[in-house]
Amino acid sequence: MLRVAVIGAGRIGKVHAQTVASHPQAELVAVCDPIGTAAEDLAARFGAKAYKDADALFADADVDAVIIGSPTAAHAPQVLGATRAGKAVLVEKPVAKDVEEARALEAELATFDHPPVMVGFQRRYDPSIRRAKELADAGELGDIEQVVIVARDPQPPSAEYVAGSGGLFKDMTIHDFDEARFFIGDIVEVSAFGQNVLPELKGTGDFDAAFVLLRGKDGAVASITNNRRCVTGYDQRLEVHGSKGSVSMDNWRETTLSVNTAETSGVQQPYLNFFLQRYADAYRDELTAFIDAINNGTEVSPTVADGVAALVVAQAAEESAHSGRTVRLDA
Ligand SMILES: NC(=O)c1ccc[n+]([C@@H]2O[C@H](COP(=O)([O-])OP(=O)(O)OC[C@H]3O[C@@H](n4cnc5c(N)ncnc54)[C@H](O)[C@@H]3O)[C@@H](O)[C@H]2O)c1
Repeated sequence: MLRVAVIGAGRIGKVHAQTVASHPQAELVAVCDPIGTAAEDLAARFGAKAYKDADALFADADVDAVIIGSPTAAHAPQVLGATRAGKAVLVEKPVAKDVEEARALEAELATFDHPPVMVGFQRRYDPSIRRAKELADAGELGDIEQVVIVARDPQPPSAEYVAGSGGLFKDMTIHDFDEARFFIGDIVEVSAFGQNVLPELKGTGDFDAAFVLLRGKDGAVASITNNRRCVTGYDQRLEVHGSKGSVSMDNWRETTLSVNTAETSGVQQPYLNFFLQRYADAYRDELTAFIDAINNGTEVSPTVADGVAALVVAQAAEESAHSGRTVRLDA
């Protein structure tokens, strides 16, 4: 059993704690959170130890691996603290608060031997997205020409969260940048439009919705539509179009029932509400891949380099949205 600790007992920390506790090859041994009783409360649910201080957790010999779900600004220092203490790391996105810090982290990690470090772009492990990737890799879709990604959250996070998030592109669109890279490879051109549609987030100075166009190194293009608020639920769709065929992923619902009456037809249940429900399988399979990398030396995916690359695209999107110009990354 891999002895795992979760750092950060907030929204995603709770998801990871539950995922670890219910995984047959893992055991939740500790939770760390410096604020109030967050660590104690979450740890108590699973009979785990509680820590307020991450350094004290890193010194715990009974911990093999950590999952970092603390606020973004803490990611890079905690990755280094954990790896220096010999712990394997699954770190939430974004891998660091900006490109500079992410590159410094990558460079530092290259200077010493450490267990695997994986980045939490869990969509790579979503059964539909993974199947789409397998079909693309097997040549079933021919040459990939266009990718369409729609990602809208059911409701926005607090203004406080947004203020510390690094901004829409680094916080939210970063998942879509990794998803686009998954299918069309490295990105060479970025064009972005930002929007402010939510009055409650105006004071944050950040965009709350966006439309982004990307061009991959082999000429394929991707479009990304984001919104921090979607009254119809957690809207997660994907289409991958190639020269021989295409795949499309619709929203998930609790059942596949379609209800028809004299007044309406094709009425379905609402979309699964949010990331906890929609990506539950992905978080589980992400954890399995992390455990495999630690126990069996299988390839880590996504890597810190993938985390850096996604941040580079996010920074370019920010620049494009503010300047109104397309940003080239291969110049
Ligand atoms: N992959 C995903 O689907 C996904 C979903 C949500 C959030 N995230 C990422 O996870 C991170 C946390 O997001 P969240 O929504 O859970 O935030 P949150 O605000 O709900 O929770 C963060 C928690 O971290 C604690 N904390 C603060 N400083 C800390 C520190 N130095 N060390 C340890 N814990 C600390 C806070 O007390 C809080 O309990 C962000 O980087 C976010 O981008 C990823």
